[in-house]
Amino acid sequence: MRVGVLTGGGDCPGLNAVIRAVVRKGVSRYGFDFVGFRDGWRGPLEGDTRPLDVQAVRGILPRGGTILGSSRTNPLKVDGGVERIKQNLADLGVDALVAIGGEDTLGVATRLHEQGVHVVGVPKTIDNDLGATDYTFGFDTAVNIAMEAIDRLHTTAESHHRALIVEVMGRHAGWIALHAGMAGGANVILIPELPFDIDEVCAYIESRFRTNYSPIVVVAEGATPKEGTLELQTGDKDSFGHVRLGGIGTVLESEISARTGKEARATVLGHIQRGGTPTAFDRWLATRFGLHAVDAVADADWGQMTALRGTQIVRAPLSEATKELKTVDSSLYEEAEVFFG
Ligand code: F6P
Repeated sequence: MRVGVLTGGGDCPGLNAVIRAVVRKGVSRYGFDFVGFRDGWRGPLEGDTRPLDVQAVRGILPRGGTILGSSRTNPLKVDGGVERIKQNLADLGVDALVAIGGEDTLGVATRLHEQGVHVVGVPKTIDNDLGATDYTFGFDTAVNIAMEAIDRLHTTAESHHRALIVEVMGRHAGWIALHAGMAGGANVILIPELPFDIDEVCAYIESRFRTNYSPIVVVAEGATPKEGTLELQTGDKDSFGHVRLGGIGTVLESEISARTGKEARATVLGHIQRGGTPTAFDRWLATRFGLHAVDAVADADWGQMTALRGTQIVRAPLSEATKELKTVDSSLYEEAEVFFG
């Protein structure tokens, strides 16, 4: 069997660990032959490939990013895109695809599966917002990077008696903000699931200053104020219709300064959260996802993706992963609220 592998969407630490596991087990256990598609769905759409054998995956376990490249190309938005992919797979003699990606990449994989393409998915995203799996790889690394940044900002906040705001990624889910904020001892955490009240945020900040301890506000890039309380600008959309987020930290910086009279400064962590080497947890999860994904290929169990349930790796229908976003439950947020102010 000839198997194509691709990585789509925003990169994240652990992608290479999956590729390595898929290829190593696929070759040694099943005798498969592999081909790498470059830059997500652009690869199969344009027939752009690179060699992918055991030698090509040596040494990549700890490396961030993806040796295959990635993109946000949406073949469903290209005229005849699905037909072109099918034709290219046939021309290249590719029998099956392992698609490693988040909501968008796996959404395309779901549509292709419905149209008869042999595809197995592996869920990745720092946002941890995919249904059907307890965790996606990339998330733990992003949380640890954000936590370390918060730890470092605490010392500066205290030295300068400033309110420091840390804007983290996560799109429309507050997982990174919640986990990193809790781990880093944030004064308040703002997440997209619960619109915030700027007066309440300022009250938390003032109360923290009264204890002679400087506040750190952790805000998810998708967090929004309660309706009618603050003006926010909206960004451009990508080919999947997602608005580019970011900028809420800067809005908070000026609002908090103006309302409290204290100096407030924002740090936007941005792509730093997606870069560099994966944590041990992400390497472990990504590797196991890869091992189980290639088993699904061997079983011809198309339209499935690997998922973590407790400590077990199971298979779940791709459609389940992308049906609805997994967001932060209010009871989890209430746990963190104990430490606000
Ligand atoms: O989905 C991962 C993610 O990093 C989100 O947290 C963020 O909103 C988005 O990707 C950023 O995308 P890009 O790197 O294309 O700007």
